[in-house]
Amino acid sequence: MSDQTVELEWSDDVATMTVDRPEALNALNVETLEGMRDAIDEAEAGDARVLVVRGAGDAFMAGADIKYMRDLSTAEAQAWGELGHGVTDRLEGFPAPTLAVVDGYAFGGGCEVAMACDLRIGSESALIGNTEIDLGIIPGWGGTQRLPRLVGEETAKRMIYLGERLDAGTAADEGLFGEVVPDDEIDERAAELAAELAAKPAFAMGAAKGAIAQAYSDRGGLEYEKRAFAGLFGTPDQREGMAAFVEDREPEFR
Ligand code: CAA
Repeated sequence: MSDQTVELEWSDDVATMTVDRPEALNALNVETLEGMRDAIDEAEAGDARVLVVRGAGDAFMAGADIKYMRDLSTAEAQAWGELGHGVTDRLEGFPAPTLAVVDGYAFGGGCEVAMACDLRIGSESALIGNTEIDLGIIPGWGGTQRLPRLVGEETAKRMIYLGERLDAGTAADEGLFGEVVPDDEIDERAAELAAELAAKPAFAMGAAKGAIAQAYSDRGGLEYEKRAFAGLFGTPDQREGMAAFVEDREPEFR
């Protein structure tokens, strides 16, 4: 595997991919995304019957790495968006069920990774949202398309326009989490659910996943989002929003 911050572990037919960059709350940079891409490919090549996705330490993933992103040009942001979409597309198209175990923060790109999985369970202390607006950008790895599908248009617009961070109970009420479990039980519950999924007939499972995907097979919105995301890089609001995060202050937008 190309990156030390992503681990793939096996337990029988269940593969678990863990993003392990706790010093940055598992924020996703180029190396981490490439590591995830490779890990997903390895899980597929190994015929995983379930792929579990999680983060190490106190976060699921705090989103795309803002320190990396802040100075990108539009062309660089285009490539960056493609890389992130490559990971979320791979998760969505993974031939077996995928399960996001959201224990801690899942913001921006972290929320988008979780939404690209088939199922999501959250710990009681989890927080989740597409928070990009306060950085002067929009969700760039599929969030504008997958969030409305999960929570409905009104709630998705509220979350994206206001940069809302939902607690676990609200996320479950809105349809983002299938279930919420106490923090100290989430590992056990994730293993139990993964084992239950892995025991189901794999051909039928793959067919069910493929058939459900047909309901959402129009990729026009995802391509639109890629262009809109990249086009925001270099604008005064994007530069200000990300500088404010790095300098630990409130942004002042035009
Ligand atoms: N990128 C880079 N570094 C990040 C990061 C991110 N997304 N999130 C956290 N970190 C870093 C912090 O800079 C800090 O590093 P230092 O110790 O070197 O200063 C470290 O992780 C710990 O973070 P905090 O000190 O901020 O921890 P906290 O507990 O006070 O706050 C938090 C946690 C609420 C998650 C806060 O860090 C935060 O708001 N992070 C940004 C979340 C965000 O906006 N994510 C969306 C990114 S944009 C995106 O993802 C675009 C897309 O669609 C592709």
